[in-house]
Amino acid sequence: MTAHLKLDKPQSDRLGDMAQGVIGRETPRREGPLKVTGRAPYAAEVGDGTEAVGVFARATIAKGKVTKIGLDAVRALPGVCAVITDERLLRNPAQGTANTAPVQGGRDVAYFGQPIALVVAETYEQARHAAHGLEIAYDAAEDAAVTPEDAEPESLESKQIDIGDLDTAMSHAAHSMDATYTTPSQNSAAMEPHASIAVWKGDELTLHGSYQMLKFNRNELADSLGVDPEKVQIKSPYVGGGFGSKLGIAPEAVGAALAAKELGRAVRVVLTRPQVFEATMRRSETRQRVRLAADADGKLTGIGHSAWVSNLVGEAFSEPVAQATHFTYGGANRSYRHLIHRVNRTCAGSMRAPGEAVGMLALENAMDELAHAAGVDPVELRLKNIPDRHPEDDKPYSSRRFADCLTEGARAFGWHKRNPTPGQTRDGEWLIGLGMASAARGNILSESHARVTLHSDGTATVETDMTDIGTGTYTILGQITAEMLGLPLDRVNVALGDTAFPPASGSGGSWGAGSSGSAVFVACQNIRAALAEKLGMEEDQLTLTEGSVIRNNTREPLSAVLDDDLTVEGHIEPGDTSEEVQQAAFGAHFAEVAVSAVTGETRVRRMLGCFAAGRILNEQTARSQCHGGMIFGIGAALTEELVHDPRDGHIVNHNLAEYHVPVNLDIPQLEVMFLEERDAHANPLQSKGIGELGISGAGAAVTNAIFNATGVRVRDYPATLDKVLPGLPDI
Ligand code: MOS
Repeated sequence: MTAHLKLDKPQSDRLGDMAQGVIGRETPRREGPLKVTGRAPYAAEVGDGTEAVGVFARATIAKGKVTKIGLDAVRALPGVCAVITDERLLRNPAQGTANTAPVQGGRDVAYFGQPIALVVAETYEQARHAAHGLEIAYDAAEDAAVTPEDAEPESLESKQIDIGDLDTAMSHAAHSMDATYTTPSQNSAAMEPHASIAVWKGDELTLHGSYQMLKFNRNELADSLGVDPEKVQIKSPYVGGGFGSKLGIAPEAVGAALAAKELGRAVRVVLTRPQVFEATMRRSETRQRVRLAADADGKLTGIGHSAWVSNLVGEAFSEPVAQATHFTYGGANRSYRHLIHRVNRTCAGSMRAPGEAVGMLALENAMDELAHAAGVDPVELRLKNIPDRHPEDDKPYSSRRFADCLTEGARAFGWHKRNPTPGQTRDGEWLIGLGMASAARGNILSESHARVTLHSDGTATVETDMTDIGTGTYTILGQITAEMLGLPLDRVNVALGDTAFPPASGSGGSWGAGSSGSAVFVACQNIRAALAEKLGMEEDQLTLTEGSVIRNNTREPLSAVLDDDLTVEGHIEPGDTSEEVQQAAFGAHFAEVAVSAVTGETRVRRMLGCFAAGRILNEQTARSQCHGGMIFGIGAALTEELVHDPRDGHIVNHNLAEYHVPVNLDIPQLEVMFLEERDAHANPLQSKGIGELGISGAGAAVTNAIFNATGVRVRDYPATLDKVLPGLPDI
């Protein structure tokens, strides 16, 4: 049986009617014990050890052509089985955007670090040795653009938007702000590096990989190889983080597949950390000019957000910097520009909260600067400027407890204790400051399928190619099924991460839980209907709990009323509700920092995020998502920065020793609050996405707190001590 729901109208709160109380409840990740005891096999670990091992040799120029590869010398080295130089390895320099990047033809190099050849040997050491020894000759192009300044920006016409007249609003404003902020290239830095084991049986490929979006990844891989997608199966049951870097196929999957085909045996390719940094993707650096015009009370009359980013030639994606600026605050006069520098640097793709993660740093710093200039409390300034309807297309919001997040968060944090005059609070050598910022992230429903079987023994199985990238998918899909079918959670088996299962939304854009969860919901709803029909009742009269059916005041185990398995494939699709309303999750971040008056270093002392994101499906996994996002925000604010060599664009700090993500000691007490909310337009679960909400705006709360602590406004991220120190008062 199949069941289909297209979201053409708001949905009733069916989950709220259920009897179990499993949904929403704090529930630890079901696969957690497997992971912490090393029994959850990751992609690199699934083989039996007989695989050949591939290591990439990579470009050492930014742009040009490969003229010769010294194959013979390397083929003679011990253990070497093959050197793969198939042009399918090279034709798409940005594998992560496979369907949109240009086919560069034969042997073109588009960036330093681009994979050129895969050297395959019996052992990793042999392959690495041979790859390092592989001589590659180039005809280097003279016109490589390795810094944004080298390339005239091109204008993305769909993002040049003018509403009203911002220039006039700026010149008439009682208070105004016009400042430029910069953010550096960043890396997703997922714990598990990209890894694939490829196995062919005849013309059928099985790839054990680490990917976020299997139904797309399967097509991308097939497309890269030039084979029929039906012949490709990808398995990613466990993924050690993605944060966008595993949205698209990466070179190791293509390389492993080509090598395995050529050799007729399984091949494993695991990227090293430097290869992950240089040969998968980065977040673009940005330069952002924000203009704000306000009347004497601090009410916005205009907003301008112009952004410059960088991408490879032909990349369709570019960081949608102003995404949240369109719908967060009011102001009649609005102006946007989006310019792209085409550079010979590692492909710039989607990293957690593409757009908001960096766009809200600038917007929320500018709001803080305006608040200071206008003498209005920063929380008050936000509250004054929450629009009734979407300020640009006049849609209503589906649900929005934005104001409550600001006020409840401020109360819980003790915001009233903040001294609005910077540099006034000391604790020994430390200057103490409080800062805040808003959080906003659009909500998306993405088409998804899932098969649910209620077995005659009273257990259930969920099957979908959805991934769990550390977010809690195994757990929440189990909870939804348990809630709908009245089963204890441990009677629901959830199988994920295999393209043999019905295709899901994948994990991306914060839509995974809502979308894949809705497909499961639709299937369960249909199973309930079938069960009700069998029992001669209406579905909404059916009470299922603890593995039993309750009817006519009697309670029978499900297994007693089921003579056969009931299987339904659920299918959810977005419809009018995605068009008619503005859907977004909102929140507010509050941070307390201490800045050393001696060294200029910043320590975050505490941080609180207050969020409203529709129904929270599992309070524990949702809180973990927000913690992770806030930690990302602290990293963006204080330490994370990819440094490109100005001579050839290569990433200098291509490892976790020198690309500084926060470590445990950098992170203080983080508090996360959720406000009760339901969103009937979002999906039948009434939930909104949460994976990227926590990072949106988070870093700006930290830099705004640095300003409050010191009076130093750092507009060039990250706010490292060298940028803070010169502005500090004498001790
Ligand atoms: Mo996300 S950047 O869509 O994994």
